Amino acid sequence: MKVLGIETSCDETAAAVVDDSGVLADVVHTQAVHLAYGGVVPELASRAHVEKLGFVVKAALEQAGLERPDAVAATSGPGLIGALLVGLSWAKGLAAAWDVPFLGVNHLEGHLLAPLLDRPDFEWPFLALVVSGGHTTLYLAESLGNYRVIGETVDDAAGEAYDKVARLLGLGYPGGPILDRLAAKGDPAAIAFPRPLRGSLDMSFSGLKTAVRTWVQRNPGPLPIEDLAASFQAAVVDILVSRVELAAAQTGIPRVVLAGGVAANAGLRARLRQSAHLDVLIPPMSRCTDNGAMIAFAGRMRLLRGEVSGPATPANPAWRLQ
Ligand code: KG4
Ligand code: ZN
Repeated sequence: MKVLGIETSCDETAAAVVDDSGVLADVVHTQAVHLAYGGVVPELASRAHVEKLGFVVKAALEQAGLERPDAVAATSGPGLIGALLVGLSWAKGLAAAWDVPFLGVNHLEGHLLAPLLDRPDFEWPFLALVVSGGHTTLYLAESLGNYRVIGETVDDAAGEAYDKVARLLGLGYPGGPILDRLAAKGDPAAIAFPRPLRGSLDMSFSGLKTAVRTWVQRNPGPLPIEDLAASFQAAVVDILVSRVELAAAQTGIPRVVLAGGVAANAGLRARLRQSAHLDVLIPPMSRCTDNGAMIAFAGRMRLLRGEVSGPATPANPAWRLQ
């Protein structure tokens, strides 16, 4: 079954084709219109999806050498309502015109399952750390469709903390990749930022962001930007890795899937790779940030077991994965 997947939940306009052999096409267009604003502007995102999605879908079908897929899957939540509606409406329209099934996919399930594209043999149940711009959640993934939230951020998402810290340092958007590159050249022990940990599997990043702001206010003069980035990153990685290790100890499950935009972080990837207690599935970088392949793949798994969505399926901007 060849499935076309469409992703438009935020600022990537993406389409891909997946079948049982893997990814046949994967086209991602990252919207540049937001750069000037230091963050995603929802209305501009919707308009840019409207402008670009037709070209992106056409390119994906051409790359796959396909005129018509066997099914269409699209992100129907969570995400920006206007942005979601663009991809969802397109997907429903295409499915109706081609007379093939349509399925609405949860964006977070797309992230969570994406690493399995390259390792379909990875054994269930597993822990999944989904770290993106909007979410930082630790799941116990028991089987397809059965996910239990066992820990999550109580305030900012990790990616959001990266973006906010980059903004306060005047570094541009999105902050994650910029700070990650700077961190590689700095000393992670230069500044002792707090690692606010709770006894539970929950996480918090807002205090860390405030600590960076306070440090900058108290230290006038040229900023040691690389040391700041490395010290901030060391704290984020410590918080995330300590919660994953605690979850593995509590559940007795050492298998961990790393997913979401922050999974592209070099510091986090290196630390998880070194962990002696964990068996971590770290996806290639292209599967971490938003893409259509993850939506096609998650959609395909559900379509194969007989699920379909009706033409009235709404966009669900706050759809929780559980
Ligand atoms: O999953 P994603 O593409 O979109 C959402 O669903 O949110 O994640 C985007 C987030 C942004 O906050 C971005 O700064 C962060 O992922 N990110 C990174 C890196 N690459 C992207 N954060 C840290 N290090 C990176 N290398
Ligand atoms: Zn995402």
